[in-house]
Amino acid sequence: MKNKIKVSAPGKLMLFGEHSVVYGRPCIVTAVNQRMRVTVDVTKDSEIGLMAPDVGIKSFKASILTPLDKLPKGARFVFAAVKNFKSRFKVTSGLLIKTKSDFSSEFGFGSSSSVTVCVIKALSQIFDIEINNNMLFDICYKSVIDVQGVGSGFDIAAAIWGGTLYFVGGGKKIKCISKKELPLVVGYTGIKADTATLVKEVSQLRKSNRKQVDSIFDTIDSIVNKAHKLIVSNNLNNLGEPANLNQGLLDSLGVSTPELSRLIIAAKGAGAYGAKLSGAGGGDCMIAFVPNGKRKSVEKAIEKAGGKVISIKSGAEGVRIEK
Ligand code: PMV
Repeated sequence: MKNKIKVSAPGKLMLFGEHSVVYGRPCIVTAVNQRMRVTVDVTKDSEIGLMAPDVGIKSFKASILTPLDKLPKGARFVFAAVKNFKSRFKVTSGLLIKTKSDFSSEFGFGSSSSVTVCVIKALSQIFDIEINNNMLFDICYKSVIDVQGVGSGFDIAAAIWGGTLYFVGGGKKIKCISKKELPLVVGYTGIKADTATLVKEVSQLRKSNRKQVDSIFDTIDSIVNKAHKLIVSNNLNNLGEPANLNQGLLDSLGVSTPELSRLIIAAKGAGAYGAKLSGAGGGDCMIAFVPNGKRKSVEKAIEKAGGKVISIKSGAEGVRIEK
């Protein structure tokens, strides 16, 4: 058993296939070079301490038996992760967990999934329990579902494997398809979206329009498969069209917003190959695929349209132990 461990995991950006992936369909996600960093110390008492200033938790301590809904929001993923790890491997010990993110939790880069991955990975090191990526995924996915009830798990896979992944909802298939950086510009709308609410809205729409929504999902599947082929063959300049098609379909599902549309139109007007929202919609970020020479003008156009450009590199390394 070790007394202290430091772990980091990347944030993520959904590239293609959001929402339909919740229904067991495929998507493409990339890990970004802004990371969540977690330190876990073994303590002498039996409680779990948490210092997570990025989500408003300066110093918090509670028993692991505290029900998740009685904990402050910012503590739930960490506690769910510890609970699931402890009950699976029958280990006990007090812990002090400190989290620090390179990115704001507002951006929708997946701070809750990356923190969950960091905590489970750190505990496996602390207690000398070998777990492979698939096992790590299963425990993390259960923890995230325990807290938020819905989700495909794509963000957890990105935090674990890194790179750019082809992912099928629930983790039925997880395949790294590229480690290269993609020609992306990311714009933040300034609006924090609530993923669970948007997932429920799409589910409501599907209830009353089953045939239509499922055929939209079928088309998104074929867009994902096309983008998959383009990425594997390094044909990155052709990702604009699938991005535009995917955006049109997300708009028809009702998850785009005027702010997202403004940034997307601005990016395309400034020479991007194509652009779309990334993630649940309702705010958060948009992405644009850009030719090399147009990066600056696309960034400028996004800022002029009211967005904030976030500088990231895609295809980042997955979870790792830090010195
Ligand atoms: O809002 P984000 O970036 O966490 O993305 C959500 C993507 C969804 O497909 C809508 C939900 C999911 O869990 O796959």
